[in-house]
Amino acid sequence: MHTTTKPLSISREADVYIAMGYGRNMASSLGFNDIERTKIEIMILELARNILRHANGAGDITVEIVEQEQRQGLLITARDDGPGIPDIAQALQDGFSTAGTLGAGLPGVQRLADAFEIESELGRGTVVKAWKWHNPPIRGRR
Ligand SMILES: Nc1ncnc2c1ncn2[C@@H]1O[C@H](COP(=O)(O)OP(=O)(O)OP(=O)(O)O)[C@@H](O)[C@H]1O
Ligand SMILES: [Mg+2]
Repeated sequence: MHTTTKPLSISREADVYIAMGYGRNMASSLGFNDIERTKIEIMILELARNILRHANGAGDITVEIVEQEQRQGLLITARDDGPGIPDIAQALQDGFSTAGTLGAGLPGVQRLADAFEIESELGRGTVVKAWKWHNPPIRGRR
């Protein structure tokens, strides 16, 4: 298993599901359980849908295995060349949407992630990073 995917271009709907599949495979290779794998898939789904809807499909998603101290995890990076987000705090509120939809995507990803970052520049694009750590079972415990 590679420790990182190439940047997976998200320009049409099928790309969303392809990226989710990469996330699922990488999560399995790290030993994430079904529930955690589903969370990772949902994070990728929402970030990819945002690239399609808000950045007109001009972006990509990268999934990589990261290590910190004794633990491993996945970092999902969604990057686009879209219009940017003028007010990030507002975009992270439940129910805020400029598209007339639920406005549940970004706050949902933030809740599912162990760590979460957004950088955005108006007229240039947006980078969202979401980390999910895998905690290995404590030795001796069953
Ligand atoms: N990649 C992006 N580029 C530009 N704006 C974005 C991007 N992602 C999110 N936004 C802005 O943040 C708002 C909130 O995003 P969020 O994903 O929470 O909701 P939504 O996409 O509008 O609806 P939902 O995800 O519930 O279908 C969006 O309506 C949009 O204005
Ligand atoms: Mg969304």
